[in-house]
Amino acid sequence: MRRVKHGKRAIPSGAACLVALAAAGCIDSKQEAPREKAIAESAAHAADQRFEAGAAAFARYCALCHAADATGYAADHAPSLVSTTFLASASDEYISRGIREGRPGTAMAGYGKLRGGPLDDDEVAAIVAFLRDRGPVRERLSPKPVSGDATLGAAVYTANCQRCHGTRTDRGDAVHLANMSLLAAASDSFLRYAVVHGRPGTPMPSFQGVLGEDEIDNVVAMLRSWATPPPPERTAPPELPPLGEVVINPKGPNPEFTLREDRFVPIEDVKKALDAKKRIVIIDARATSDWLVMHIPGSISVPYYGFSRLDQLPKDGTWITAYCACPHHASGVVVDELRKRGFTHTAVLDEGILEWKKRAYPTIGDPSVADAGAPPPAPVLAPMPGAITTPRLVQHLGEP
Ligand code: HEC
Ligand code: HEC
Repeated sequence: MRRVKHGKRAIPSGAACLVALAAAGCIDSKQEAPREKAIAESAAHAADQRFEAGAAAFARYCALCHAADATGYAADHAPSLVSTTFLASASDEYISRGIREGRPGTAMAGYGKLRGGPLDDDEVAAIVAFLRDRGPVRERLSPKPVSGDATLGAAVYTANCQRCHGTRTDRGDAVHLANMSLLAAASDSFLRYAVVHGRPGTPMPSFQGVLGEDEIDNVVAMLRSWATPPPPERTAPPELPPLGEVVINPKGPNPEFTLREDRFVPIEDVKKALDAKKRIVIIDARATSDWLVMHIPGSISVPYYGFSRLDQLPKDGTWITAYCACPHHASGVVVDELRKRGFTHTAVLDEGILEWKKRAYPTIGDPSVADAGAPPPAPVLAPMPGAITTPRLVQHLGEP
């Protein structure tokens, strides 16, 4: 990908440094000029390389949902990552933590190696550099908590926010604000900033002048009262078990599937085939970190960004179905690849894994991590009346 424009990186220009130094009378500017210039050029070169690496990683792992230019909404209502107000209010740590940890219970997987995802810290930083390049300079937001009345905020939320953001347990079309990892990373000021300024270029309106300052404080206090502890940090990457047997019920008969649009098989039909011990391969096309947290028993992880395992699948007409959460995009990528490679009986699991889970069809995974499809824990207490919110359950980063 070619660089669209140079951002507002604060790489000091060699010339400017020299003027300052020469004015101080300590350096002969003529002698030092080439060296300063070389340093500046090599810093710019390193920054360009990082940008290119970030752009390539973004195209491979993220564009599927967040769109190639990161403006969002290519799949699953994934938000923009480059709106002016997002980049102005989000710290690098906020963005990288979102990438590493994901948003458990949504289509946003954890992409960090420690979660079983594909990205190391350098790659995450490169993606952040790629996003930052578009943005305005970040504003420093106050680390102070917002104080407001969460009970009054609940009414503000129902009237003004719920139609897009859904309820505490059910995501609407917009970002799920009850998500534990979002609330663990976002400071009160970050949340407030989004409400006041909106997210230009996205459906998120600005509430400045629409809601009173106190109403905004109250709704932020209410969001904070939704926080629950995020999944514990990991210190070592989880191990992906060896591939093993790829066919479920290898001795069973082939199922009969009728595909919608020559592509989609209803989850009900796949469930019936499993119950009847039919022969089938099920691919989990999400990031491997999501497979580790929760998957259909017997399914194998072949994420939409890495196809090496496809070589090990039987090419004898065995039905191969792929699923994801989105519910068609990642699985569609894998099914397209299978068809390109000459596999004849392939299908996308129509409603996706979240609906599978909702219907309480069998899944297995890591019980210590809230998984996609599991409702967030129900509110334990009604929000505390009176001034500020519940105590901080979560560790704040100081900055948003
Ligand atoms: C399968 C779709 C999908 C893919 C692929 C995906 N995301 Fe997301 N992402 C989402 C969704 C959906 C959300 C919002 C979560 C929610 O529902 O609340 C999100 C949220 C985020 C957020 C938090 C934004 C905020 O406003 O707090 C960041 C940062 C992010 N994604 C970065 C990435 C990056 C970088 C990649 C690639 C490494 C990526 N995502 C891949 C779907 C996706
Ligand atoms: C018309 C739909 C709509 C309404 C109404 C709305 N939002 Fe949003 N909101 C969105 C969308 C869409 C986004 C994600 C925007 C993006 O792509 O960055 C968002 C983003 C946010 C974010 C940033 C979350 C993040 O992860 O970065 C916060 C906080 C937020 N909204 C709070 C609120 C509150 C509080 C209200 C009510 C006072 C509200 N919103 C009303 C659609 C809406």
